[in-house]
Amino acid sequence: MSALPHDLMSALDGALTRFPRQTLARSVDRLIQHYREGAPPAQPILNSDVDVAAYACYRMPATYAAVRSVFDQVITVAPGFWPRTQIDVGGGTGADVWAAADAWSSLTDITVLEQSAPAVALGRRLVEAASAAPVRQSSWTRAAIDTTADSPAADLVTLSYVLGELPERRRAETVRWLSRSTGMLVIIEPGTPAGYERIVAARDLLRDLGLRLVAPCPHEDVCPIPRGRDWCHFSTRLPRSATHRYLKDGALSFEDEKFSYVVASPHDWRRAAGRVLRHPQKPKGQVALRLCSDDGKIADVTVSRRQGTRYRAARDVRWGGEWPPADDDLIDID
Ligand SMILES: C[S@@+](CC[C@H](N)C(=O)[O-])C[C@H]1O[C@@H](n2cnc3c(N)ncnc32)[C@H](O)[C@@H]1O
Repeated sequence: MSALPHDLMSALDGALTRFPRQTLARSVDRLIQHYREGAPPAQPILNSDVDVAAYACYRMPATYAAVRSVFDQVITVAPGFWPRTQIDVGGGTGADVWAAADAWSSLTDITVLEQSAPAVALGRRLVEAASAAPVRQSSWTRAAIDTTADSPAADLVTLSYVLGELPERRRAETVRWLSRSTGMLVIIEPGTPAGYERIVAARDLLRDLGLRLVAPCPHEDVCPIPRGRDWCHFSTRLPRSATHRYLKDGALSFEDEKFSYVVASPHDWRRAAGRVLRHPQKPKGQVALRLCSDDGKIADVTVSRRQGTRYRAARDVRWGGEWPPADDDLIDID
């Protein structure tokens, strides 16, 4: 489970006490409606204090969990990547900066660019309570994406759950703008067919512009997922707070956030030899994995108990993880 850090959780609880629960609940309903429609909004969705508070309560824990889980995959393939600077574009209430600081203790300089004034105000208020100095000292600028300005220059550039809010004609232009930003570029979208389409378009464009794909793809060929019938996405589980349960009318104490993503860099990093595309199936004595492989194809692989250490390693692998593992030679010695 990927929970919000304690300092963020208590800052968020404090910020939410300003609003009656029923008012927040009405805002959550409105936001859910907006996000379900899926069309780029005619005007910013987060344009009032209460809508931003509702977003922070019902979406930020999930976007935090998705971003944090993508960062884990980056750490796996690029253990030598120690970013000092981060720019988070369309940062909302700051999920990505909290997640980045949790993933990389090397960060010293964090900047958030966000068009919504109330989101910037709440984001700033939340970071005041951060125990990590780079988060506390992060710089927040109210700004809309301007692709005629210099590209964000940082070791880590993040754009999570933003592409879908941009008009279609501005998405490629925004990805091109980000591609010139010399750092590790992380783009995340909801794990829906439409979110995947935006990610695969960004992936192909970044590759065509000369960036190297870092994750999740094990190769740079055409994405082998059969379009229209399936979509590449992953999932992370997060706990729901009592307020969250009340606002979303949910009884479960957890939820699964589905997301699609691409990470690209101007530099070469190791890529996974294969990426697990589904929850592994575990019939007795076996682990069945559907993989995206480094030969550009989808492969179904079964690891059986007879394979000893390899089987034990396969039992631990998760949807979204890599298989075979990086230290596969060691496993084969068994
Ligand atoms: C769904 S929220 C995601 C926020 C945050 N990145 C996260 O993952 O929780 C989308 C954010 O992108 C911002 N956004 C949308 N279009 C933008 C633009 N053209 N320039 C700057 N920010 C933008 C919105 O105001 C909103 O805060």
